[in-house]
Amino acid sequence: MRTQSAPRAAGTLRPVEILIIGSGGREHALALALAADPAVTALHVAPGNAGTAEVATNHDVAATDPAAVTALAQRLGVDLVVVGPEAPLVAGVADAVRSAGIDCFGPSAEAAALEGSKAFAKQVMAEAGVPTAMAHVCTTVDEVALALDQFGAPYVVKDDGLAGGKGVVVTEDRAAALAHAGACLARPDGAVVVEEFLDGPEVSLFAITDGTTAVPLVPAQDFKRAGDGDAGPNTGGMGAYAPLPWAPPGLVDEVMARVVQPTVEAMRHRGTPFAGLLYAGLAVTRRGLRVVEFNARFGDPETQVVLALLRTPLAGVLRAAARGTLGLLPPLEWHPGSAVTVVLAAPGYPEAPVTGGVLTGVPAAADAETGWDAAWVVHAGTARHDGDLVATGGRVLCATARAADLEGARERAYDLLEGIGLAGGHHRRDIGLAAAQGRISVP
Ligand code: AMP
Ligand code: GLY
Repeated sequence: MRTQSAPRAAGTLRPVEILIIGSGGREHALALALAADPAVTALHVAPGNAGTAEVATNHDVAATDPAAVTALAQRLGVDLVVVGPEAPLVAGVADAVRSAGIDCFGPSAEAAALEGSKAFAKQVMAEAGVPTAMAHVCTTVDEVALALDQFGAPYVVKDDGLAGGKGVVVTEDRAAALAHAGACLARPDGAVVVEEFLDGPEVSLFAITDGTTAVPLVPAQDFKRAGDGDAGPNTGGMGAYAPLPWAPPGLVDEVMARVVQPTVEAMRHRGTPFAGLLYAGLAVTRRGLRVVEFNARFGDPETQVVLALLRTPLAGVLRAAARGTLGLLPPLEWHPGSAVTVVLAAPGYPEAPVTGGVLTGVPAAADAETGWDAAWVVHAGTARHDGDLVATGGRVLCATARAADLEGARERAYDLLEGIGLAGGHHRRDIGLAAAQGRISVP
């Protein structure tokens, strides 16, 4: 383990020492981007993984304990804490860090409810006039049955609370929809959201916001289902690509005008400004744009491809969002071309991931390809045990590549993954394929 030290910044660069909270692929992707920023003079990750240990110093921390994270940030003397996952945000980690006088990239617990409660998100969208699926919030099985029959098949039933992307069931089978709702309602204070089904391709659009100004990143597409052709159960995400060659012109502007800006304004007017990363999960349906969900943090694995394309040094952007000065930044700059990331998952993921498998063929960061047209591994659930690299999570790593076009980036990512071994591991073979073949159309 070592601390990544860049030369002290000269001239206009303001040196910054950063602590990233989290341990997945998103956090390694953030660490890679921040380590490449010459303004970053010290980089720490807690808890981190074997990949973050190569570019930063890992620390143990209970990531959802606001006092523990704050104490770590104080002990390290960092200027900025970047919170990766949703659970620490919902637990109030960003509030605690800010109360200690340290800048934090990530919304308050109250603002993170946009992700933490689907019912709250629906309420804010209604106030802000943001287009989303019609929905009923239900607290009894009878209410669920009525709502299912109102919308008809395919049925969409969502756990109201945080479920790591796995609380949603989309099915033609009414009994399966009812069974999922029953399981969610059986928990204390259980509630479910029953929604109309949205047709059309999905888009993940991230906006960095300081609570007033919002700046879009490039749109990406995630692959939520476990298997090729969108077969199998929902997962946290099995791969991603960006940008979207099939996106209608003006899509980003439309999302900013109809979704992001009204939501940011509604949150500010409520007295709970949302500062951090607002992730709009959208469907481009035959009746227009609809929000599927909001998240209060960078998406995983979309961050791996979005940050691969970002040319503007990341630290200054995150710090401006944390300090309320995003409006003063020049426009973001982007690499041309495409990026693809393919997740290697542990055997049994998502239902019952088996961890502990030994990984082979993973290139060390020091041996990673350099240059613009390159492929590299983003670690997710990995750790070093006695010199072995072992799988510690459901999503183990992400083979990531950037190239002149989507087809080229796919080839590079899959070539890299070919050389990596994990007994029983699985991945999708069709990440970005339909888009590369021109098979995605907006209804
Ligand atoms: P969520 O956790 O709300 O993002 O849902 C996870 C996934 O379920 C989404 O990415 C979609 O693929 C699918 N999904 C959610 N809501 C709907 C909907 N109303 N219609 C169709 N698919 C949906
Ligand atoms: N990739 C989906 C998510 O981060 O929620």
